[in-house]
Amino acid sequence: MKRHRIKNLLCSTERGVPVVAAGWVRTRRDSKGGFSFIELNDGSCFENIQVLAFNHLPNYTEDIGRLHPGASIKVTGLLVDSEGSGQNVEIKATAIKVLGFADPMEYPLGKQRINFELLREMPHLRARTNSFGAMARVRHCLTFETHRFFHDRGFLCVHTPIITGNDCEGAGAMFQVTTLDPANLKKHPSGQIDYNEDFFGQRASLTVSGQLEGEAYACALGDIYTFGPTFRAENSNTRRHLSEFWMVEPEMAFAELSDDADLAQDFLQHLFSAVLQHCGSDLKFFDQRVRPGLIARLERLAQAAFTRISYTEAIALLEKAEQPFVFKPHWGMDMQSEHERYLAEQIFDGPVVVTDYPKAIKAFYMRRNDDERTVAAMDVLLPGVGEIIGGSQREERLDHLINAMRESGLEPADYPEYLDLRRYGSVPHAGFGLGFERLVQFCTGMQNIRDVIPYPRAPRQL
Ligand code: 4AD
Ligand code: MG
Repeated sequence: MKRHRIKNLLCSTERGVPVVAAGWVRTRRDSKGGFSFIELNDGSCFENIQVLAFNHLPNYTEDIGRLHPGASIKVTGLLVDSEGSGQNVEIKATAIKVLGFADPMEYPLGKQRINFELLREMPHLRARTNSFGAMARVRHCLTFETHRFFHDRGFLCVHTPIITGNDCEGAGAMFQVTTLDPANLKKHPSGQIDYNEDFFGQRASLTVSGQLEGEAYACALGDIYTFGPTFRAENSNTRRHLSEFWMVEPEMAFAELSDDADLAQDFLQHLFSAVLQHCGSDLKFFDQRVRPGLIARLERLAQAAFTRISYTEAIALLEKAEQPFVFKPHWGMDMQSEHERYLAEQIFDGPVVVTDYPKAIKAFYMRRNDDERTVAAMDVLLPGVGEIIGGSQREERLDHLINAMRESGLEPADYPEYLDLRRYGSVPHAGFGLGFERLVQFCTGMQNIRDVIPYPRAPRQL
């Protein structure tokens, strides 16, 4: 018989039928009446199923009495009404096969609670805890619903390259990809490294964003999105930064900034509704144990329209605030996380879309506004997280784009393909990037971004 997922067994209405379940023991409790209760989890849902093991099972004394948390077993038995409280259904075992024991003296995830810092040192085992099981299921739901959302709206999923020769954000901080031997570098007489000898015959890096390639496909296919890993070599040791993170980047042809903001709101609200609909028990756990009020907040934000204000208005609000900021707000500054959070948490208590930032603090590809001081940029700020989305309308005018590149210290000749999109059939277009881990943080209430990705990569953490 094939195994049944515990998720399906727990909501089954059949009784007295033979079933098979397999998973990892969470606890075992021996009763005086000659039987044991085993709490079994297989990861298919938050809940465990209770297994009733009588001492007349042939291997009871030898095996079942030695089952400790972390052991893996396969149970054959009957699905019956549970007499105990706490569950409707349980398995009355007719056979239990031990697949693997776990020595309670060595297994790090016994009964005692372990904090998240310590769990980070065992990423291979933390998936077996309640928190990380729940995180993984929420992450999956958000992934699946991302694809569903865009698919249903006619967006094509485009796989943009991970190894790249250009720097999308124009900001450096990229991880280099090379097959050169660092101990044996061939250099030009000028002292520069000779990348002709390298694998690609030029300098190559891990991408910081799929946007530039995404734009090429949007300017041929209309609406596209990318969903892939991105890499940033900034030395940021915060609870919102990773060196390797996943980004969702939609790009729309024939669209402007307001369309971009509409899409961002629809997308986030779809995800909030979906996670409420599909991850009930996981969210309940996070609500009770990690962030009180989480579910009520998601329910509220799934409905309410997001506030939209310009950067200039946002700065005016911050200047009036009584809050003693570390960085004093003034027009022209790059907002710090303290400012973003103040707007989203104290002033608006919900998502805020901030638009039209000063050109000097934004990337070269953002469309210059008529005031010549600002660009058609947009950031979406969320309570507790700060910036979750960064996007813009793109500069589709060739001459403006070339000027903006020069002003940013970039050499237009290094971006021939990007310029071609403006030379041949240029169209207004817009898009954004959503930081997927920050989304998972928001939907779970998890404090540290390193706890919402299976294997976090951060400075000095691999
Ligand atoms: O604002 P960013 O840098 O925008 C871009 O990369 C654009 N090319 C996107 C586009 O328009 N297609 O990054 C987008 C989002 C941020 O809002 C943030 O949520 C997330 O990516 N992000 C990070 N998440 C985790 N760790 C980091 N180091 C991050 N850097 C950015
Ligand atoms: Mg940004």
